Amino acid sequence: MILPVYLYGQPVLRQEAKEVPEDYPELRQLVANMFETMYNADGVGLAAPQVGLSIRLLVIDGDPVKDDYPECKGFKRVMINPEFLERSEEEVALEEGCLSLPGIHEKVSRAKSVRVRYRDENWEEHEEFIDGYAARIVQHECEHLTGHVFIDDISAIRRQLNKGKLNSIIKGTVRCSYRAKAVGK
Ligand code: NI
Repeated sequence: MILPVYLYGQPVLRQEAKEVPEDYPELRQLVANMFETMYNADGVGLAAPQVGLSIRLLVIDGDPVKDDYPECKGFKRVMINPEFLERSEEEVALEEGCLSLPGIHEKVSRAKSVRVRYRDENWEEHEEFIDGYAARIVQHECEHLTGHVFIDDISAIRRQLNKGKLNSIIKGTVRCSYRAKAVGK
């Protein structure tokens, strides 16, 4: 089932997400719905707060960007209660977008590689070293679990330039090709 994507301005995107308990009801169905929602919106990652649930769960499938970023080939993950064990000192700045901020693209500096520990949908624990654009996707999605979005740290000038777009997202007048839930609608 395709779920509505909560847009910038929705309070759930500003909450610190809670740990997922092993007995979380209908977790597999939720994961399936999140993948369906993400694919429908042509996204490569989606965090649970973006579908209105303040829990530490995210889904990723980097395969659509494999031509530009070969490290994303087959990089499909469900991450439950993820935590960073390491982030490289080396950072890379690249343009990003977010399904909760349609039409907005800004350069974000992130660690080039990370080591992350998480559980999958079978509740198996993983520790994984992730590099390049795949590491960027993981960091972007994990940021959603802390109540932040990728434009929080952009410069005052860039923020001013995006003001009109941000207001239209909040008001729900933004053009969006997928089912979305704006705070103003
Ligand atoms: Ni996002």
